[in-house]
Amino acid sequence: MGKSCKNYLPATLALLLVCLTFTLGLFRCSEDKKGDVTTSDAQILKGPYLQMVTQDSIIIRWETDIESPSKVAYGSSVAYGKSVSGRSFTIEAPTNGTLPTPEGVQHEVVINGLLPSTEYHYQVTSVAVPSEDSTFTTAGTISEPFRFVVHGDNRTNHDDHRKVVEAIISGTGKPDLIVNTGDLVGSGMLLAEWDKFFEIEQPLLKSSPLFPSFGNHELGGAHIFKGYFSLPENTGSGLYYSFNYGNSHFIIINTEEDFTSGSDQYNWANSDLTAAKSDPNIQHIFASFHRPAYSSGNHGGNEAIVTSLVPLFTENDVDIVFSGHDHNYERCQDPELDLNNPEGTVYIVTGGGGAPLYSKDDQNEANNPFSIGVFHSKLHFCQVDVSGSDITVKVFNTDGNIIDSFTTQ
Ligand SMILES: [Fe+2]
Repeated sequence: MGKSCKNYLPATLALLLVCLTFTLGLFRCSEDKKGDVTTSDAQILKGPYLQMVTQDSIIIRWETDIESPSKVAYGSSVAYGKSVSGRSFTIEAPTNGTLPTPEGVQHEVVINGLLPSTEYHYQVTSVAVPSEDSTFTTAGTISEPFRFVVHGDNRTNHDDHRKVVEAIISGTGKPDLIVNTGDLVGSGMLLAEWDKFFEIEQPLLKSSPLFPSFGNHELGGAHIFKGYFSLPENTGSGLYYSFNYGNSHFIIINTEEDFTSGSDQYNWANSDLTAAKSDPNIQHIFASFHRPAYSSGNHGGNEAIVTSLVPLFTENDVDIVFSGHDHNYERCQDPELDLNNPEGTVYIVTGGGGAPLYSKDDQNEANNPFSIGVFHSKLHFCQVDVSGSDITVKVFNTDGNIIDSFTTQ
C-alpha cells in the first residue's frame, strides 16, 4: 500500500463512521415517529396485573395516565423475544348518574398460543419506563396439582392489607390463582380507594391472576369493577361468573344482586353447577361470594343464601364455599362431619384481609347450625392445594402461623 493511501485511510474510515452514525440516527428518529412520541411519555398508574389464565392464554392489564400503545414483550426468559399488542379503552361512567370514573387509560393484552403449565417472563414496553420483569404461569392439565389463595375484606386498614399481601407472597410464593371474597375497597365509588388497592396488591397480582367477588362496599362502583377486571363473560350482569382451572370448577356469585329462586343469577348458578357436576374432567367445585351463608361473626349468616343457594351446593357436591363480610376467619360445617377430613360442603368465612377485625357474636353463634367452634379474629389468608382427589387447606395468620387446617376430597 502506498504512502498516499495510508494517509487517506483514517479520513475515509472517519467519513464512513459519520455516515453510519447519521444513518442510524435517522432510523432511530423514524422509529420514534412511527411509535408516536406519546409512547415514551406514558406512565403506568396501575399494574401490570394478571387476569383470566388458561392452559394456553392469559390477559395482562394495566392503566396509564395518557394514551399509549398496548404492548407487552414476553418469552421464556428475560430476553423475551416475542411482542403482542392489545387494546386500550377508558372506563365509562353510568349514563343515569354522576358516579366518578377513572380518568386513566386501561390496557388489555391477550396472549394466546402458550404452553400449559409453563412460566413466562413479561414486560409492558409501550411506556416511558417499562415495567419491571415479571412472570406468569399458564394453567396445567387436569392431572396436575395447583395452589390457590383466598382472602377478602381488604378495605380500610391499608397497613394491615399490606401485611396480608406480604404474608401471601412470603408464605405461598406465586399462587396459581387468587380468589377474593369481596369488599376489596372501602367504597367502590372512591377512585383513591381503587388506587390504594392496586398499589398494595401489585406485588401479588403481577404474578398471580385475580378472580374477585363483588362485595357490598363495591356498590356504586360496578362500572369500575367491570372496567378494571377482565372476567369471564358468561353471565348477564357481568358481576357473577365461573371458570375451570385444572380439575376444578370455580363459581363466583354476586350476593349484591338477586340470587333467590327464579332469578337470572339463580337459574344460571343452577345450570352452571349441574354442568360442572356432570363434567368428567371436573373433580372439585369451589364457590366464592361475599355474604356468608353461615357465620358466627358480627353480621351473622344469611337466611336467603341458606334457603336458595345452599341446596344447590349440596346437590352438586360443592367442596368448599368461601365468603367474607365478617372480618374474621371461621370454618362452618355440619357438626356431624369429621373435623380433620369433613365430607360434604365446608363453609369458610375469610374476611381478615385488612378491614377492622370482628369478634365472635354469641347470639349469631347460637343461631349458626354449622358452628364448630373454629373462629379466629385475626388477619389471615387461606391456602388451598388441589392434587387429584385431595384438597388440603391451610389458613395462615400474618405471622406465618397456621390457625386452621383440614383436608377433604
Ligand atoms: Fe361486606
